[in-house]
Amino acid sequence: MRFSVVQILEDDLIAPIIKKVAYGLATTCILGGAVYAGYRVAAPAQQQTRHYRQPELNDQIETVLDSLKIADDQLVHIMHLLEAEMNAGLSPSTHDQAVVKMFPTYVKNIPTGTEVGQVLALDLGGTNFRVLLIDLRGNSRIELTSKIFLIPQSIMMGDGKQLFRHLSECLHEFMLKEHILNTDVCYPIGFTFSFPCSQEGLASARLTSWTKGFSCSGVVNEDVVKLFQNAINEKGINAKCVALINDTVGTLMACAYKDPATAVGLILGTGTNACYIEQLDKVGTWKGDYDEPKQVIINMEWGAFGDNHRLDFIRTRYDEEVDLSSTNPGRQIFEKMISGLYMGEIVRLIILDLLQRELLFLGHRDTYGDYKTPLYNRGGFYTKFVSTVETDEGIKFSNTRRVLEDIGIQNPTFDDCAIVQHICRQVSKRAAKLAAAGLSVLINRIGRPNVTVGVDGSLYRYHPRFKTNMERCMDMLVNKSIQFKIALSDDGSGKGAALVACLAEGTSWKKPAAHHEETVN
Ligand code: BGC
Repeated sequence: MRFSVVQILEDDLIAPIIKKVAYGLATTCILGGAVYAGYRVAAPAQQQTRHYRQPELNDQIETVLDSLKIADDQLVHIMHLLEAEMNAGLSPSTHDQAVVKMFPTYVKNIPTGTEVGQVLALDLGGTNFRVLLIDLRGNSRIELTSKIFLIPQSIMMGDGKQLFRHLSECLHEFMLKEHILNTDVCYPIGFTFSFPCSQEGLASARLTSWTKGFSCSGVVNEDVVKLFQNAINEKGINAKCVALINDTVGTLMACAYKDPATAVGLILGTGTNACYIEQLDKVGTWKGDYDEPKQVIINMEWGAFGDNHRLDFIRTRYDEEVDLSSTNPGRQIFEKMISGLYMGEIVRLIILDLLQRELLFLGHRDTYGDYKTPLYNRGGFYTKFVSTVETDEGIKFSNTRRVLEDIGIQNPTFDDCAIVQHICRQVSKRAAKLAAAGLSVLINRIGRPNVTVGVDGSLYRYHPRFKTNMERCMDMLVNKSIQFKIALSDDGSGKGAALVACLAEGTSWKKPAAHHEETVN
C-alpha cells in the first residue's frame, strides 16, 4: 500500500484541512507571487531543495509500520488466549506455571460512600512516593492533604531495607508536619504498592517480582507489609499498615465510591494492569472465607500476558529490542507493548530504523552521526512526546516540530513530521487495541448489563486519543447486550487505599485535614 501526505492524515482531519486550504487559497494567490519572488532571492540554495518522496519509499515505510497493525480476527484470538491464561491463573493446579497470576486481593467489600474515618494512605508505584492523610466524611466526600517525595534511582535499584527505611523517613517527615506524630492514636495505613504480590490476607503480600525499572535486592518472595512495618517500628512511628493494595484495586474502589456499577479497575500509566470483581466459585485459589458477598477483587497482573511466548505472533523486532534492554527481559511482555515506560522507546526505535534505511530525515544526512542527541539514546523519546505529537491537528505540525527539535532534528520537513506522527499513531493505536481486547474479556466475563471501568494513569490521562481508540475497539468486541462506561478514577491510589484501610479497621473520627499538595526532592 502506498500513502501520500493526505493519506497519512486521518480521515477526520481532512475536512477541516480542506476548509483551511480554501480560505488560505485566496490570500495565497495574492501574496504568493510576492513571497515566491522574495524567497528565490533570499533563500540559500540548499533550502530550496524539496524532498519529493518516492512512491517506493512510502511502500517501505508502510511495510515497517504494517508490523504494528493488529487485525480484528487477531484481536479476537488474543481475547481467547487471555481468557485461557486467566483460567490457568485462577486454578490451583495450573496457578504456579501460569503467567497471568490472577491474585485474589482479599478485598471483598466495595465502598458504599458512607465510610467515615481518618487514615494514612501511601502510594508507591513509580519514581514518586506519595503520603496522604485522608478524611472520609461519610457522604461520598473525601478531604485530603498529601506530599510527594521522589524516589532516587539509587534507591529504586539498591538494597530493599534501604528502600523501606527511606519510605518510613518520608512518612515520619509528613506526620511531623501534620502534627500527628507521637500522639496516642495509632494511625491505620492503607498502602498502595503497585507491583505483583501474592496475598494471603489484606495485610500480607509477598512480592513475586519487580517491574517498571525497580530491582531492590532482598524483597522478592518477602512479605512487603512486614518489611515496611519493621521500618516503621524502627523509627518509632505511631502507625500500622492494615492493608496493602494494588493501584488497580484502589482505582476500582475510588470509582465504585461514586458509581456502584464499577466492576473493573484499569491502570494505563508507567505500567499497565487490571483488576475486576470475580465470583468466589470461579476462584479455585481462594483461601479466605465464603461469607457474603461471595466475590473478591482479582488483581490480574495482566502485564505478564505473553511471558510464555503466546503473543509472539504480534510482537515486532522493536518490541524485542525494548524487552532486551529492559531491567526484566522476558517479563511483562503485554505491558511492554502498551504502557508509558515503553511506548516512547518503541517509537524511538522505529524512527531510528527508518532513518538508517534512509526513509526519514532525508535532509539531515550530515547530522546522522551525532550520537549525543536524544534520538540515539535509550529513553531519549519520552512517551509524553507521543501524546504531544498526536495533539497536532492539520498540517502545521507545530508540536511535532518542537519534539523533533528536542531530540536533535533541526528544521524537520513536512514529510518528516507527517511520518513521525504516523509512527506515533500506529504505536499508540496498537496499545489502545490491546488494552481494549483485555477489557472486553473482563466485561464479557462479568456479564452484568451495566459495567463501569475505572481508569487511571498518565498514559490514559494525557494521550489525546487513547480513550477514543480504546472505546472504538471495545464497541466491536464487547457483547452487544452489555452497556459499558469508561470513567476516569479520581486518585484511586490515594483514596482507594484509604477506603480499604477504613473498611479493614473501622477507624475513629479525627479532626479534618487541610487541603494542599507539594513536592520535595
Ligand atoms: C505492576 C502492577 C501495576 C501496574 C500499574 C505493573 O508493572 O506489575 O502491579 O498495577 O504496573 O502500575
